[in-house]
Amino acid sequence: ATERTFSIIKPDATERNLTGAVNAVIEKAGLRIVAQKRIRMTKGQAETFYAVHRARPFFGELVEFMTSGPVVVQVLEGEGAIAKYREAMGATDPSKAADGTIRKLYAKSIGENSVHGSDAPETAVIEIAQFFSGNEIVG
Ligand code: CMP
Repeated sequence: ATERTFSIIKPDATERNLTGAVNAVIEKAGLRIVAQKRIRMTKGQAETFYAVHRARPFFGELVEFMTSGPVVVQVLEGEGAIAKYREAMGATDPSKAADGTIRKLYAKSIGENSVHGSDAPETAVIEIAQFFSGNEIVG
C-alpha cells in the first residue's frame, strides 16, 4: 500500500551540501518527497524526537549533533515507503551499509550517518506530526 515515512537529512550532510545528492537517491528509489523544509532543530525538539534513546550512553552526543547545524526534514511517500527508505539509507553503521545506499555513499560514522528514516508505521505517524501540519504535506 501507499505509505508515508519521515526523513531527516542530518547536519553532517547539509554541511557538505549533499541535500540534492541525498534527494537524488531518494527519488531514484521510487519515493516522492511530498513535504520538505530546512530547519535548525532546537534542543527540545531533538530531545523529544529521540526520547526512546534517552537512556543510551550516546543520547547527549546525539542531541548535540542534531542541533549543531541545519537539517532537512521530509515526508516521503510511496509503495512500502518505510521499508523502501530503510533499504535506500543502508545500515546505521556506514561500514556495514550496502553499496549504493545513502550511508555507504555519504555517512561519516555511526553517529554522523547523514540520514534518519522512521522504523515502523506508528513511529512514522508520530515523527511526521512532530514537524509537519497536514496542509504542509502535498501528495
Ligand atoms: P537514527 O536513525 O537517527 O536514530 C538514532 C540515532 O542514534 C542513529 O540514527 C544514530 O545516528 C545514532 N546512534 C546510534 N548508535 C550510536 C552510537 N553508538 N554513537 C552515536 N550515535 C549513535
